[in-house]
Amino acid sequence: MPYLGLINKYRKYLPVSAKTPVVTLHEGNTPLIHAYNLSKNIHPNLDLYLKFEGMNPTGSFKDRGMTMAISKAKEAGSKAVICASTGNTSASAAAYAARAGMQCIVILPAGKIALGKLVQALMHGATCLAIKGNFDDALNIVKEISAKYPITLVNSINPFRIEGQKTASYEVCEYFTPDFQAMPVGNAGNITAYWKGYKECLSHGFAKRLPVMLGFQASGSAPIVRGYPIAKPETIATAIRIGNPASWKQAVEARDESKGLIDMVTDAEIIKAYKLVAASDGVFCEPASASSIAGVIKLAKKGYFNKFKGGKRARIVCILTGHGLKDPDKAIEVSAKLNMVKPKLSEIMKFVKI
Ligand code: F0G
Repeated sequence: MPYLGLINKYRKYLPVSAKTPVVTLHEGNTPLIHAYNLSKNIHPNLDLYLKFEGMNPTGSFKDRGMTMAISKAKEAGSKAVICASTGNTSASAAAYAARAGMQCIVILPAGKIALGKLVQALMHGATCLAIKGNFDDALNIVKEISAKYPITLVNSINPFRIEGQKTASYEVCEYFTPDFQAMPVGNAGNITAYWKGYKECLSHGFAKRLPVMLGFQASGSAPIVRGYPIAKPETIATAIRIGNPASWKQAVEARDESKGLIDMVTDAEIIKAYKLVAASDGVFCEPASASSIAGVIKLAKKGYFNKFKGGKRARIVCILTGHGLKDPDKAIEVSAKLNMVKPKLSEIMKFVKI
């Protein structure tokens, strides 16, 4: 049977019926990659797996939630959708709205959207509006608009987004039940969704137990870690540049129920992890995604995984939420410079170590 997207595959566990028009780009079914090089680099007894959500149709995990949100909006007869976004939600909303024949309006923080994400929303024909303000300001505006006008909000406060995104946990559990799951936390919808997914997997018998949830925020945008909203969040990981997460309470619940933690990593730690995973295991994710790896490295250094010894290995799934190609500017800024050489064998061989 061909793979026809996550609504088709997980229909039994999703709030859809035969009447729901399924708007899909065949999202989901993303690879779970054993990062054997990176694992060794971090800790002798870690087995790190990368759930590469950058392999979704628009290059981020948002597609899981968007296939549900747009299908349900269409079912309800909605003609238009709106979202605030740090980039990926807008790219995904624009693509699925285009496919559904709906209008899409996106409100973005001016100057803080990675180039690839902006290009996607524009190409898919969304009405893109930049505001002088951050994601939190944009979210307040779209909430107000969707309350006043017949426009469906497709940010993760839309419960159908969470339903779609929880399917990633189902996919992980088809391989194994991880000891830990590490992921970035921004508006906190995704940690909410994964935790819901894992709890459902346990109740359906797909998981043997629940993983410990490890969430990571960027230190300049770490409201949950610090315990108060951040008025002016800052980080190079623009996807998670959020000062007042909508699903704050649910993220704390996931942390506490799983006996996990939500910690923060610096921009320097994020960039280091971002380069390391690309260079050691060939997986190119965006900076925000690398905060999950940066967090695991930080915890390993502190001895968090030391109880795993003598051949006992900790299996950690790191969620790489978005593709590295989304943010070429950041990649170019932090990577080795291009050498100009004459088209001559002897000149070229000066650079080849053999
Ligand atoms: N990673 C990436 C690549 C993201 O784009 C986001 C959120 C997150 C992690 C955090 O997920 O918000 O569910 O905790 N991006 C949103 C957007 C805010 O507008 O694209 P979260």
